[in-house]
Amino acid sequence: MDGPLLVIDRDDASPLGAQLVEGLRRGILDGRLQAGDPVPSTRSLATELGVARSSVVAAYEQLAGEGYLEVRQGAPTRVAPLAAHASAMAPGRSVESVAPESAPAPSAAAGGDGELDLRPGRPSTARLDERAWRSAWRHAARVAVPGDTAPPFGERRLRSEIADHLRHARGVACSPDDVVVTAGTSDAVALLASALRAMAGGTPVVAVEHPGYPSARRVLERRGALLTVPVPVDADGIDVAALRAIRPTPDAVMVTPSHQYPLGGRLPVATRLALLEWAEASGAFVIEDDYDSEFRHVGTPLPALASLDRAGRAVLVGSFSKVLTPWLRLGYVVLPANAGLRDAIAAVREDETCPVPGIAQEAMASLLATGAVRRHIAAARRDYAHRRELLLAELSGMDGAPLSGLDGGLHAVVGLPSRALAARVVARLAAEGVLVSPLSDYSAIAGEGPSGLVLGYASPPDARLAGALRVVRAAVEHELSRRPHRWV
Ligand SMILES: Cc1ncc(COP(=O)(O)O)c(C=O)c1O
Repeated sequence: MDGPLLVIDRDDASPLGAQLVEGLRRGILDGRLQAGDPVPSTRSLATELGVARSSVVAAYEQLAGEGYLEVRQGAPTRVAPLAAHASAMAPGRSVESVAPESAPAPSAAAGGDGELDLRPGRPSTARLDERAWRSAWRHAARVAVPGDTAPPFGERRLRSEIADHLRHARGVACSPDDVVVTAGTSDAVALLASALRAMAGGTPVVAVEHPGYPSARRVLERRGALLTVPVPVDADGIDVAALRAIRPTPDAVMVTPSHQYPLGGRLPVATRLALLEWAEASGAFVIEDDYDSEFRHVGTPLPALASLDRAGRAVLVGSFSKVLTPWLRLGYVVLPANAGLRDAIAAVREDETCPVPGIAQEAMASLLATGAVRRHIAAARRDYAHRRELLLAELSGMDGAPLSGLDGGLHAVVGLPSRALAARVVARLAAEGVLVSPLSDYSAIAGEGPSGLVLGYASPPDARLAGALRVVRAAVEHELSRRPHRWV
């Protein structure tokens, strides 16, 4: 490498850390650092530049999270292979340089090999602390092997760690006795459906958001042929007046108040209270899917419904799918003070047992106890904030395709004038190697609801994400240019 890798300008208004990140990123993008090159050790770079070593560590961590560097335990940190393609996709490259008429080949489109999956629900695991992960599983493997099933509500140690986690992260004052370990949200919903069915003594009625989470709807319907009643959502989330008007009164409603899925509204505190009032007055349960509460980018997170509930009607459902990975299949239900619901759930679990293997529960408890989950959320949050900025830069300002849903969570919605047009964009993108979801998949009423695309931005490294987003923009603009803009 000729000349210094980095020059820090102390008169520059931007913070040292940001200058370090930007300088290294530039070095990689303009080819001074090539894929596979080792970068200087944090100690030597810190000495060379006269900055704190912690600043260099933080900069390397950020660049590793963005996909520019590869950090391996016990080996020098190196420039990641993907970054070799990145110069063609350096920030600032004009959108027009991707020709909409001649779609690039799949791998070129995504800036790497094969398809790039931008469907929502895929977090990044790049920042996972491998050492903490391995040590948690080693610990779990050392536990004396019981000759029995795990307790019906889950291992005590994990329930206790989850209760602590929720107290700190969400202000939910719950005890380990309130926590039921589940194999993710899907299992929590199935469990609640069975319990509600037993309590209703027949087919319970469950109201759901429209548009809303399709898997939860299907699980509800599959478990005991529940009738799901769609309730419209507005910019904030569920329309409580519409919910109140439903007859007969539903046995439960399932909501995503932290970040309405998929449109992105956040239910204001007054509406949360109105929802709880309705539940208390009607004897219904509010199933609060707290998905996305960990990743709030604009505004402060609002209190969970479960922390506002005084009448024992709010059931909090959470998952480690986005916080860590959906591969784990780990989540939880926090039960309200409601003996009927507890008994019904206990009866289901007595027969069906806790579906999460005891060894996985032990490992998860260790990950929580050592602070690895908390640290991972903090690190991932920084990466995601950066990728969100990238998405805003690449997809804002498209005439006829407004961008929304970005105040929290890890996905965005691109509105489009019609379902047919959205379907054409999705198909075109698939042919180009970029997978996105049509917004119509979320509709709870066949053929109704807003049109557009839902795209997750969490998992691909920056360089690949930027390349893919340009392909998305080109496809959207191409399809929009083929017809007059008429919103239906
Ligand atoms: C709204 C919503 N809630 C919860 C989840 C997590 O589901 P699970 O825990 O079953 O992986 C998802 C995953 O995509 C989701 O979209």
